[in-house]
Amino acid sequence: MSVRISPSILSADFANLERELHRIADADLVHVDVMDGHFVPNLTLGLPVVQRLHEVSPLPLDVHLMVEDADRWAPRYAETGAASVTFSAEAAADPVATARAVRGNGSRAAVAVKPGTDVEPYLRTLDEFDMILVMTVEPGFGGQSFQAGTMPKLRRAREAVDASGLDVWLEVDGGITAETAPTAVAVGADVLVAGSAVFGGEPAERIAALRAAAAR
Ligand code: DX5
Ligand code: ZN
Repeated sequence: MSVRISPSILSADFANLERELHRIADADLVHVDVMDGHFVPNLTLGLPVVQRLHEVSPLPLDVHLMVEDADRWAPRYAETGAASVTFSAEAAADPVATARAVRGNGSRAAVAVKPGTDVEPYLRTLDEFDMILVMTVEPGFGGQSFQAGTMPKLRRAREAVDASGLDVWLEVDGGITAETAPTAVAVGADVLVAGSAVFGGEPAERIAALRAAAAR
Protein backbone atom coordinates (compact mmCIF):
# COMPACT_ATOMS: atom_id res chain seq x y z
CA MET A 1 0.00 0.00 0.00
CA SER A 2 1.52 3.31 -0.99
CA VAL A 3 0.89 6.09 1.50
CA ARG A 4 0.14 9.59 0.25
CA ILE A 5 1.46 12.69 2.00
CA SER A 6 -0.79 15.75 2.10
CA PRO A 7 0.90 18.74 3.78
CA SER A 8 -1.54 21.18 5.38
CA ILE A 9 -0.89 24.77 4.34
CA LEU A 10 -2.53 25.89 7.59
CA SER A 11 1.04 25.95 8.92
CA ALA A 12 2.48 27.65 5.82
CA ASP A 13 3.27 31.35 5.32
CA PHE A 14 -0.11 32.76 4.27
CA ALA A 15 1.57 35.82 2.77
CA ASN A 16 3.50 33.63 0.30
CA LEU A 17 1.26 30.69 -0.52
CA GLU A 18 2.44 30.19 -4.10
CA ARG A 19 6.05 29.93 -2.94
CA GLU A 20 5.00 27.59 -0.11
CA LEU A 21 3.21 25.30 -2.56
CA HIS A 22 6.44 24.90 -4.53
CA ARG A 23 8.33 23.99 -1.34
CA ILE A 24 6.07 20.93 -0.90
CA ALA A 25 6.15 19.77 -4.53
CA ASP A 26 7.58 16.38 -3.40
CA ALA A 27 4.32 15.58 -1.63
CA ASP A 28 1.30 13.92 -3.27
CA LEU A 29 -1.48 16.37 -2.43
CA VAL A 30 -1.94 19.79 -0.84
CA HIS A 31 -4.28 19.85 2.15
CA VAL A 32 -6.30 23.08 2.28
CA ASP A 33 -8.17 23.73 5.53
CA VAL A 34 -11.27 25.86 5.02
CA MET A 35 -12.66 27.09 8.36
CA ASP A 36 -15.63 29.39 8.77
CA GLY A 37 -15.34 30.60 12.37
CA HIS A 38 -18.62 28.81 13.21
CA PHE A 39 -18.16 25.07 12.78
CA VAL A 40 -14.73 25.58 14.35
CA PRO A 41 -13.49 28.58 16.34
CA ASN A 42 -11.02 29.61 13.65
CA LEU A 43 -11.26 31.33 10.27
CA THR A 44 -8.97 30.66 7.32
CA LEU A 45 -9.84 31.09 3.66
CA GLY A 46 -12.65 30.52 1.20
CA LEU A 47 -13.60 29.88 -2.41
CA PRO A 48 -11.69 32.71 -4.16
CA VAL A 49 -8.44 31.69 -2.49
CA VAL A 50 -8.99 27.99 -3.24
CA GLN A 51 -9.62 28.89 -6.88
CA ARG A 52 -6.29 30.72 -7.08
CA LEU A 53 -4.43 27.95 -5.24
CA HIS A 54 -5.72 25.52 -7.82
CA GLU A 55 -4.31 27.69 -10.61
CA VAL A 56 -0.81 27.90 -9.15
CA SER A 57 -0.42 24.58 -7.32
CA PRO A 58 1.91 21.93 -8.75
CA LEU A 59 -0.08 19.32 -6.80
CA PRO A 60 -3.79 18.41 -6.65
CA LEU A 61 -5.81 20.04 -3.88
CA ASP A 62 -7.18 18.01 -0.95
CA VAL A 63 -9.79 20.46 0.35
CA HIS A 64 -10.91 19.94 3.98
CA LEU A 65 -14.07 21.85 4.85
CA MET A 66 -14.68 22.73 8.48
CA VAL A 67 -17.75 24.83 7.74
CA GLU A 68 -21.40 24.74 8.62
CA ASP A 69 -23.96 23.88 5.93
CA ALA A 70 -21.63 21.42 4.24
CA ASP A 71 -24.42 20.31 1.89
CA ARG A 72 -24.40 23.75 0.32
CA TRP A 73 -20.67 24.40 0.25
CA ALA A 74 -18.99 21.08 -0.60
CA PRO A 75 -20.23 20.96 -4.23
CA ARG A 76 -19.02 24.54 -4.74
CA TYR A 77 -15.48 23.58 -3.76
CA ALA A 78 -15.64 20.58 -6.11
CA GLU A 79 -16.37 23.03 -8.93
CA THR A 80 -12.95 24.65 -8.39
CA GLY A 81 -11.26 21.49 -9.66
CA ALA A 82 -10.21 20.08 -6.28
CA ALA A 83 -8.99 16.49 -6.41
CA SER A 84 -11.01 15.78 -3.29
CA VAL A 85 -13.48 17.63 -1.14
CA THR A 86 -13.89 16.47 2.44
CA PHE A 87 -16.83 17.79 4.43
CA SER A 88 -17.47 17.42 8.15
CA ALA A 89 -20.03 14.74 8.96
CA GLU A 90 -21.36 16.82 11.85
CA ALA A 91 -22.10 19.73 9.49
CA ALA A 92 -23.96 17.79 6.79
CA ALA A 93 -27.72 17.19 6.84
CA ASP A 94 -27.53 14.61 4.05
CA PRO A 95 -23.99 13.24 3.68
CA VAL A 96 -24.84 10.81 0.88
CA ALA A 97 -26.57 13.46 -1.25
CA THR A 98 -23.69 15.84 -0.63
CA ALA A 99 -21.10 13.23 -1.59
CA ARG A 100 -23.03 12.56 -4.79
CA ALA A 101 -23.07 16.27 -5.59
CA VAL A 102 -19.31 16.48 -5.00
CA ARG A 103 -18.71 13.54 -7.32
CA GLY A 104 -21.07 15.06 -9.85
CA ASN A 105 -18.85 18.14 -9.91
CA GLY A 106 -15.77 16.02 -10.58
CA SER A 107 -14.03 15.62 -7.20
CA ARG A 108 -13.47 12.63 -4.99
CA ALA A 109 -16.00 12.85 -2.15
CA ALA A 110 -14.94 12.43 1.45
CA VAL A 111 -16.49 12.70 4.88
CA ALA A 112 -14.60 13.62 8.06
CA VAL A 113 -15.44 12.49 11.57
CA LYS A 114 -14.33 14.33 14.70
CA PRO A 115 -12.66 12.26 17.46
CA GLY A 116 -16.00 11.81 19.25
CA THR A 117 -18.09 10.99 16.15
CA ASP A 118 -18.95 7.42 15.19
CA VAL A 119 -17.73 6.27 11.77
CA GLU A 120 -20.15 3.32 11.43
CA PRO A 121 -22.95 5.17 9.57
CA TYR A 122 -20.48 6.10 6.81
CA LEU A 123 -19.06 2.59 6.61
CA ARG A 124 -22.58 1.36 5.87
CA THR A 125 -22.67 3.55 2.74
CA LEU A 126 -19.01 3.19 1.82
CA ASP A 127 -19.65 3.07 -1.92
CA GLU A 128 -20.84 6.69 -1.72
CA PHE A 129 -17.43 7.93 -0.55
CA ASP A 130 -13.92 8.00 -2.03
CA MET A 131 -12.22 8.77 1.26
CA ILE A 132 -12.95 8.85 4.99
CA LEU A 133 -11.04 11.33 7.14
CA VAL A 134 -10.58 10.19 10.71
CA MET A 135 -9.70 13.35 12.62
CA THR A 136 -6.92 12.60 15.10
CA VAL A 137 -7.40 15.95 16.90
CA GLU A 138 -10.39 18.22 17.45
CA PRO A 139 -10.63 20.24 14.23
CA GLY A 140 -9.74 23.92 14.27
CA PHE A 141 -6.05 24.39 14.90
CA GLY A 142 -2.69 23.05 13.86
CA GLY A 143 -0.01 21.94 16.27
CA GLN A 144 -2.17 19.79 18.56
CA SER A 145 -1.21 16.35 19.90
CA PHE A 146 -2.25 13.15 18.13
CA GLN A 147 -5.17 11.42 19.90
CA ALA A 148 -4.37 7.71 19.95
CA GLY A 149 -7.92 7.05 21.18
CA THR A 150 -9.12 7.49 17.57
CA MET A 151 -7.17 4.45 16.38
CA PRO A 152 -9.86 1.80 17.08
CA LYS A 153 -12.17 3.79 14.79
CA LEU A 154 -9.51 3.90 12.08
CA ARG A 155 -8.97 0.15 12.43
CA ARG A 156 -12.69 -0.46 12.06
CA ALA A 157 -12.73 1.71 8.92
CA ARG A 158 -9.74 -0.19 7.48
CA GLU A 159 -11.53 -3.50 8.04
CA ALA A 160 -14.66 -2.21 6.31
CA VAL A 161 -12.75 -0.81 3.33
CA ASP A 162 -10.74 -3.99 2.87
CA ALA A 163 -13.87 -6.13 3.13
CA SER A 164 -15.62 -3.97 0.54
CA GLY A 165 -12.90 -4.13 -2.09
CA LEU A 166 -13.65 -0.48 -2.88
CA ASP A 167 -10.97 2.14 -3.63
CA VAL A 168 -11.73 4.21 -0.54
CA TRP A 169 -8.77 6.05 0.99
CA LEU A 170 -8.40 6.52 4.74
CA GLU A 171 -6.95 9.86 5.78
CA VAL A 172 -5.72 10.97 9.20
CA ASP A 173 -5.33 14.62 10.15
CA GLY A 174 -3.95 16.15 13.32
CA GLY A 175 -0.72 15.61 15.20
CA ILE A 176 0.82 13.50 12.44
CA THR A 177 4.61 13.48 12.70
CA ALA A 178 7.42 11.04 11.90
CA GLU A 179 6.77 9.68 15.42
CA THR A 180 3.00 9.14 15.12
CA ALA A 181 2.79 8.26 11.40
CA PRO A 182 3.95 4.63 11.84
CA THR A 183 1.05 3.98 14.24
CA ALA A 184 -1.56 5.55 11.95
CA VAL A 185 -0.26 3.65 8.93
CA ALA A 186 -0.04 0.35 10.82
CA VAL A 187 -3.66 0.76 11.90
CA GLY A 188 -4.83 1.56 8.38
CA ALA A 189 -4.26 5.12 7.18
CA ASP A 190 -3.11 5.60 3.60
CA VAL A 191 -3.24 9.42 3.42
CA LEU A 192 -1.29 11.42 6.01
CA VAL A 193 -2.03 15.11 6.57
CA ALA A 194 0.72 17.03 8.33
CA GLY A 195 0.94 20.77 8.89
CA SER A 196 3.35 21.73 11.64
CA ALA A 197 5.47 18.62 11.05
CA VAL A 198 6.12 19.70 7.44
CA PHE A 199 6.35 23.48 7.71
CA GLY A 200 8.14 23.42 11.08
CA GLY A 201 11.34 22.57 9.21
CA GLU A 202 12.62 22.20 5.66
CA PRO A 203 9.48 20.87 3.92
CA ALA A 204 11.24 18.52 1.47
CA GLU A 205 13.20 16.91 4.32
CA ARG A 206 10.11 16.66 6.50
CA ILE A 207 8.11 15.05 3.68
CA ALA A 208 10.91 12.52 3.11
CA ALA A 209 10.98 11.77 6.85
CA LEU A 210 7.22 11.17 6.85
CA ARG A 211 7.51 8.83 3.87
CA ALA A 212 10.29 6.91 5.61
CA ALA A 213 8.25 6.71 8.81
CA ALA A 214 5.19 5.49 6.89
CA ALA A 215 7.28 2.73 5.32
CA ARG A 216 8.61 1.48 8.67
C1 DX5 B 1 -6.87 21.02 11.99
C2 DX5 B 1 -6.65 20.86 10.52
C3 DX5 B 1 -5.38 20.21 10.19
C4 DX5 B 1 -4.15 20.92 10.70
C5 DX5 B 1 -3.21 19.86 11.13
O1 DX5 B 1 -8.20 21.18 12.28
O2 DX5 B 1 -7.69 20.12 9.92
O3 DX5 B 1 -5.27 19.94 8.80
O4 DX5 B 1 -3.50 21.72 9.75
O5 DX5 B 1 -2.12 20.45 11.74
P1 DX5 B 1 -0.98 19.59 12.47
O6 DX5 B 1 -0.43 18.64 11.43
O7 DX5 B 1 -0.03 20.63 12.89
O8 DX5 B 1 -1.63 18.86 13.59
ZN1 ZN C 1 -7.34 19.46 7.85
